[in-house]
Amino acid sequence: MPRIAVVPGSFDPVTLGHLDVIQRAARIFDEVHVVVTHNPDKHAFLPVPEREALIERSIEEARIDGATIRIANWSMGLLVDYCQQVGAEVLVKGIRSSTDLQYETPMSIVNRNLAGVETIFMLPDPENAHVSSSLVRQVSELGGDISPYVPRAVATFLQQR
Ligand code: PNS
Repeated sequence: MPRIAVVPGSFDPVTLGHLDVIQRAARIFDEVHVVVTHNPDKHAFLPVPEREALIERSIEEARIDGATIRIANWSMGLLVDYCQQVGAEVLVKGIRSSTDLQYETPMSIVNRNLAGVETIFMLPDPENAHVSSSLVRQVSELGGDISPYVPRAVATFLQQR
């Protein structure tokens, strides 16, 4: 049986911090599903198909090997429903701060209670510890240089936008 993990998130847009987590998950699992979720509480910066395309290009550029990587989107219900549909028993998430941990802890418990899906938390590489999609959105919208925080494909795309 392949060991399958899901790396979920808004990825609006994907950052170097996300890519690091995907890369590290790919070293541990046979198959990694990067799942873009639509969060109705958050104002979207990029449409979901564009976020997926940028993840795909970023993964190609990074030449991630190890696992089979699939990119999908999920907005029709619980994330654990997606996990059950594809046979994934593990979620992998990055934790940058105690605020992230506070936000993620109840979700991790609920996901385990709902469907027995475990969450593995990864600490970021120190150089990515301050990087977030919201920071990238803000710097990009105000005309600053986002290239230190995002894969090259994302920087190129946002600069042309
Ligand atoms: O990148 P984000 O926005 O911090 O990701 C949050 C995400 C997508 C992981 C979270 O919103 C989520 O799990 N959404 C799916 C809906 C769901 O299953 N909710 C119940 C879990 S407690």
